Amino acid sequence: MIVLGISGGYGHDAAAALVRDGRIEAVVEEERLTRRKHAYGAAPVHAAQYCLARSGIRLDEVDVLALSWEPAERPDWPTRLHETMLAHPFFASSPAPDVEIVGHARSHAAAAFYCSGFGDAAVLTVDGQGDGVSTCLGRATGDKIDLDREFGIADSLGFFYLALTNHLGFELGEEGKVMGLASYAEPADVPLPFELAADGYRAVGVPRGPADPYEHYRAVVAHWRRWCADELGRSLPVRYPVDPLTSRARADTVLGAQQQRAAATGQDILERTLLHLVRLAVERSGSRRLVIGGGVGLNCSANGVIERSGLVDELYVFPASGDAGTALGAALAVSAAAGERPRTAVETASFGPEYPDEALIDLVRGLGLPAAESDDVADDAAALLEQGDVLGWVQGPMEVGPRALGNRSILADPRDAARRTRVNSIKQREQWRPLAPSLLADAADEVLETSGRAPFMLTACPVTDAARDRTPAVVHVDGTCRPQLVRRENNPRFADLLSKVGVRTGQPIVLNTSFNLAGEPLVCTPLDAIRTFYASPLDALVLGRTIIRK
Ligand SMILES: [Fe+2]
Repeated sequence: MIVLGISGGYGHDAAAALVRDGRIEAVVEEERLTRRKHAYGAAPVHAAQYCLARSGIRLDEVDVLALSWEPAERPDWPTRLHETMLAHPFFASSPAPDVEIVGHARSHAAAAFYCSGFGDAAVLTVDGQGDGVSTCLGRATGDKIDLDREFGIADSLGFFYLALTNHLGFELGEEGKVMGLASYAEPADVPLPFELAADGYRAVGVPRGPADPYEHYRAVVAHWRRWCADELGRSLPVRYPVDPLTSRARADTVLGAQQQRAAATGQDILERTLLHLVRLAVERSGSRRLVIGGGVGLNCSANGVIERSGLVDELYVFPASGDAGTALGAALAVSAAAGERPRTAVETASFGPEYPDEALIDLVRGLGLPAAESDDVADDAAALLEQGDVLGWVQGPMEVGPRALGNRSILADPRDAARRTRVNSIKQREQWRPLAPSLLADAADEVLETSGRAPFMLTACPVTDAARDRTPAVVHVDGTCRPQLVRRENNPRFADLLSKVGVRTGQPIVLNTSFNLAGEPLVCTPLDAIRTFYASPLDALVLGRTIIRK
C-alpha cells in the first residue's frame, strides 16, 4: 500500500510523507523547499511533489491520501488543505486518490508509536491544540493505538508555554529559547496552576469557551499572559531594531534574573504536570515504555526529567514531534491499519532530499568555487575542526524536524568554551543559548552520567565532571547537554568523522547545531548551503567529499 500523508494548509509546519508497504520512503517539510520558515498557512504542495518524485511514482499511483486534520472541527480550512494541493497544476491532471482523515492528535501519536519499534507503549500527546484537542493519554499495542482520554484547548500545556514564551518577548516557534533560559535560575514557589487529579488534570481559572476554537485559543493565551504578569512579574518591553544588513526587524530583549526565574518557574510547572500525566499514562496502559507526540515533546529538558523519573523504562520521541511530523503520522496510521508499519525503531530523521557526491563536485566546479576534492573527507574535516575551524557539513539526505543530526549541520570542536560563543555569533543566536554535542554511542559513558539511546538530541542528560572540563562548549549552565548518540548503522559518514575526531582530539565528540542562520529554515540544497556559507563567517563548507574554504 502506498500512502501519502500531508499536514498544513492551516497552522504551521506543513509537510508531506510517503510510506510504501509500511516503509518510510520520504518526509520533508514545506519550509525547507519554499525557504519560508514554518510555512505558515501553506499547503504542502512542494513537499508532496518531492515525496512522489523521490519514490518515482505519480499521484494516481498513491492508494490513500492521509490528512492529519479533522475537517469536522472546522469545515473551512482542512478542506482547503487538499483542495489547494490538488488544484495545483502538478496534481490537477491526476485522478485524486482516496482521502482518509486521521486527525491531529492521532497523527502525533502514530508518528511516535509506529516509529518507536515498541510492541506496546503508553502514549502521551501534548501540544498547543489540533482539532480542539491539546493532550491525550492512551495505549498502543501492535498496529493499534487507543487514545482514551483527551483534554481540550482550555487545558493546553502548549498554550501555557506559548504564553510564557510571549511574556518573555519571544514568538510562537521560539519555545526552545525559554527552555534554555530556564536553566539559569531556580523556579519561584508559586501555586501550581494545574490541578492534578486521579483521572487527569485541569488548568485552574482558564476560560472554558468560547466555542470557536480560534477565539478560545486567544482567550486561553490571554489568560496565561495575565497569569504570567501576576505570578512571574511584569513583561519587559521588546524593541525591534532593524538589522542594517538584512533590513529585518529583530526582537531585542534584555533578559535578567527576573526573566530567568520566570522561565525556570514555567518550565518547572510544565515538568511537574507532565510527570503527573506520564504517571497516569503508565498506570492506565500497564506499559513502562512511553512514546510522546506533539510539539511539547521537543522540550528536551522535560524529556530528560521524564527519562530519569523512574516512571518509565524506555522513552521514544520522534524528531519531528511537532506538527511537521503529523504528515508522517497520518500516513503511518493508515498503513498500520492495513497491517503495515516499521517493525524496528526509527533512529534516523534523514528522509529528505539528497545529492550524490559526484553531483556536488560538478556543481561546485561549475560555480568556479575554490574547492578541493577529498579522498578522506572525514579525516580532512576532522583536521579542520582540530585547528579550530567552524564547518558547514552537508551529507546525504536532509533531516526532518528541527534538529540537524549530521547531514545538514554546523560543526565545531567543543574543547574550547569560546567555540560556543563563536558558533552562536555565526548563527546570530543569543549567547545564553546552549549548543549540543554529537558523539559516538560507544563514548557515551565518558561524557554522560546517564542517557537512554538518545539518537535525536531530544533528551537533556547530566554530563560527567570530566566532560565539563574537556568539552565545555557543549555543556549547559545547569551541567546538562542534549546529546545525539551516533551509531554507525544509522549514519556511517558522520560516524567516520567522529572516529577521526576521536583520533585527533582524544574524544569522538563534536559540537553540532543546525546549518541555518537565525530566522531561516535548515539548509536543504547545496545551493542553500553555499549561500549560507558565504553570507556567514563559517570557515569551511564540506559538501559530500568536496571542501570549500574561504
Ligand atoms: Fe500539534
